[in-house]
Amino acid sequence: MTTSHVEIDVRPSPGDVTAAAAERVVAAAARAIAASGRFVIALSGGSTPRALYQMLATPLYATRIDWAKVHVFWGDERCLPPDDPASNYRMTREALLDLVPIPVAQVHRIHGEDPPDQAAAAYEQGLTALFPDAPVRCDLVLLGMGDDGHTASLFPGLTAVGEQTRLVVAEHVAKMGMWRVTLTPRAINAAAAVLFLVTGASKAAVLRQVLNTPREPARLPAQVVAPVRGTVTWLIDAAAAASLPQETRQGDTP
Ligand code: 6PG
Repeated sequence: MTTSHVEIDVRPSPGDVTAAAAERVVAAAARAIAASGRFVIALSGGSTPRALYQMLATPLYATRIDWAKVHVFWGDERCLPPDDPASNYRMTREALLDLVPIPVAQVHRIHGEDPPDQAAAAYEQGLTALFPDAPVRCDLVLLGMGDDGHTASLFPGLTAVGEQTRLVVAEHVAKMGMWRVTLTPRAINAAAAVLFLVTGASKAAVLRQVLNTPREPARLPAQVVAPVRGTVTWLIDAAAAASLPQETRQGDTP
């Protein structure tokens, strides 16, 4: 039984989505740090999240987050060296982490250069080590969504989509021609909050399916996201929302 609350926040443009996401991250960090003394966030790969990282690195936002109390994880990683142009870590480092005063020891990257199963096991150990006395529970998990309905590296048809025991798994993604390491639905759904960032007309058709058709995560992995005790926010632009029925577009924010 999940008690997740789902919010759909529609903004006019990708830039509006990015600004709204930055405000939500700042607010989530302040709440978590006030409550527990730290902010544990899992970042996403992809071009939509990248725009958010670039905005968070600007003085307008970077000065509003207490980076000394932030722990950064990733929702997934390509099994590549950390300096590979396709590495989510490299993208995030260049867009954000090199530009803010976050302690190096609090950047918990997935070692994509290691054998996939070894990288997944080590990453899960690093995640659980941060929660010695309680189940793993990220304060915020950022997610993008592909036009096939994948999220993180939970792609249609993958075994990982049904994983309910482990927090992190490695799996070969034939469609991408590479191994990936990903948080599992168990890890994602343990979060206090999940924030999807989805923009562009290419996502409109799949977004309608994800939000308006019966749950079928094997076909639409983004549907697996339903935090047990948490919130899910879909922060989407008008182009991605274009196929949603009016009643689904709860909040067209001007
Ligand atoms: C990855 C991401 C992936 C991404 C989506 C959306 O490693 O590629 O984790 O899940 O978020 O593919 O990407 P865009 O926002 O670029 O469409």
